[in-house]
Amino acid sequence: MKIVVAGGTGLVGAAVVDKLRAAGHDAVAASRRTGVNLYTADGLADALEGAQVVVDASNSRYTDYPGALDFFETATLNLLTLGAAAGVRHHVVLSVVGSEKLASSGGLYFQAKAEQERLVAESGMPYSIVHSTQFFEFVRAIADSASDAHVARVAEALVQPIAAEDAASAVVETATGAPTQRVVEVAGPDQFRLGDLVELELRWAHDPREVRADTEGEYFGARLGAHDLLPSPDATLYWSHFTDWLDRRT
Ligand SMILES: NC(=O)c1ccc[n+]([C@@H]2O[C@H](COP(=O)([O-])OP(=O)(O)OC[C@H]3O[C@@H](n4cnc5c(N)ncnc54)[C@H](OP(=O)(O)O)[C@@H]3O)[C@@H](O)[C@H]2O)c1
Repeated sequence: MKIVVAGGTGLVGAAVVDKLRAAGHDAVAASRRTGVNLYTADGLADALEGAQVVVDASNSRYTDYPGALDFFETATLNLLTLGAAAGVRHHVVLSVVGSEKLASSGGLYFQAKAEQERLVAESGMPYSIVHSTQFFEFVRAIADSASDAHVARVAEALVQPIAAEDAASAVVETATGAPTQRVVEVAGPDQFRLGDLVELELRWAHDPREVRADTEGEYFGARLGAHDLLPSPDATLYWSHFTDWLDRRT
């Protein structure tokens, strides 16, 4: 099956491409590095020719609302319109557990992700939305976004992170199955207080920043309730443990 992976050179997208190819699919990575611009649509129609499935694992470099919204809205409409013209019959998008809640709690990036999901769900194209919890690889960015030079003030909330590799497996399973026409959730096996998770990451990196859990702390602009980052009970849980992953990390 020909499957175009938008953002197929990114953290999750590249792993999705590798896994699809290993399973015998014709996976095409579509990103600026491979000559495809999702925003301007340059190279996109050619990449989509003959594709049956589109996986959107692209990301915006903007975390503000206008920048992120402009990217996700334009890229998504380009993928849906040119995908339909090319005969695509399943559009899979990777998004974030709790995107709607995070969007309504003030998270500007998440408002753009929620809009991306709405466009897909209302497009008439058969679709699946994969909601993942935070990637292990993203914990440093969480610390950085909440830090000054000496202290990381992270929100007082629970989190159940997943290895990007496992999130990629979930996306592959979804993309090679029938459209779900709904959100499916995936998460890692272990729950942490966000502050404890950031502490593990920083101590691993010999980073001297102090970590303080802060009930007033924000998560990329969103005010978090204690359970806002957690998956629902029917989420599929993957296997990799954060502490094992830290041990193996070079
Ligand atoms: N971080 C987390 O913990 C987390 C959790 C759940 C869900 N997610 C979602 O997972 C998705 C993927 O995240 P990620 O961290 O794997 O992304 P990433 O590593 O930042 O990769 C982003 C990809 O998008 C491509 N891209 C960006 N602008 C493009 C453009 N104009 N045209 C074509 N390609 C473009 C990049 O390639 P080029 O630079 O070559 O164009 C790259 O391949 C995101 O949508 C995110 O919301 C993330």
